[in-house]
Amino acid sequence: MTSVIFPAAGVGKRMHAGQNKVFMEVAGLPVLVRSLMAFATCPGIGQLIVAIGSADIDRARSLLNSITGLGKCIVVEGGSERQYSIRNAMKVLSDDADIVLVHDAARPLVSRKTIEAVKSGAIKYGACIAAVPEKNTIKVVDDGLVVATPDRSRLWAVQTPQGFRRDILEEAYKKAEEDGFLGTDDASLVERLGIGVHAIMSDYSNIKLTTPEDIPIAESILARRQEEKS
Ligand code: CTP
Ligand code: MG
Repeated sequence: MTSVIFPAAGVGKRMHAGQNKVFMEVAGLPVLVRSLMAFATCPGIGQLIVAIGSADIDRARSLLNSITGLGKCIVVEGGSERQYSIRNAMKVLSDDADIVLVHDAARPLVSRKTIEAVKSGAIKYGACIAAVPEKNTIKVVDDGLVVATPDRSRLWAVQTPQGFRRDILEEAYKKAEEDGFLGTDDASLVERLGIGVHAIMSDYSNIKLTTPEDIPIAESILARRQEEKS
């Protein structure tokens, strides 16, 4: 069975929304609801766990209870860092969860195709992440001075979901904790075990809502999807 963990315990500082950005509405539905619904409607997914700040637990609980199909989601308290939020959520994984997907609650536009591909990759390889080839030229800058230009053809921009065999993810989190390592994604913890992480092609519309200009972009992606359907 596959369980999905949604880190949602950030404060959304860069969004300047005056609240946790996962409660903001995008085209009439809260971001958190859109992110959870994308997974709730996928076959083989048995457990949805949301990690959110203690002040938002009641609000999240009543929001999810009001949406058909999301009442069974588990809400736990997050931590001061994304990694700690996920660690807390891992404590309530069901005994029969053998695959764990982690997905940023702030990525409400994830497609069914990407979810299925990451899940299959996690089953096949043990560790698999959604990514897209980087479009920008990236430079390493130290104190305002460019020190390197990595070859763009090898650079991929990493997204979520990231999927893992449960034993691998638990081992990676244990080692990170022991070593005091704080990563910016889950795969980086698994890479430290020397285990191969596979990247699968996602799509450029799976954006993370981070700054205010991401909101109209998300709404236009949703409007285009709606047009394509009709
Ligand atoms: N997150 C979390 N626990 C934290 C920090 C972040 O669960 N202590 C979650 C966020 O809620 C979000 C995801 O991790 O769904 C990606 O983080 P980010 O986009 O940085 O969100 P925020 O931390 O909320 O935003 P900001 O950094 O601008 O404050
Ligand atoms: Mg953050």
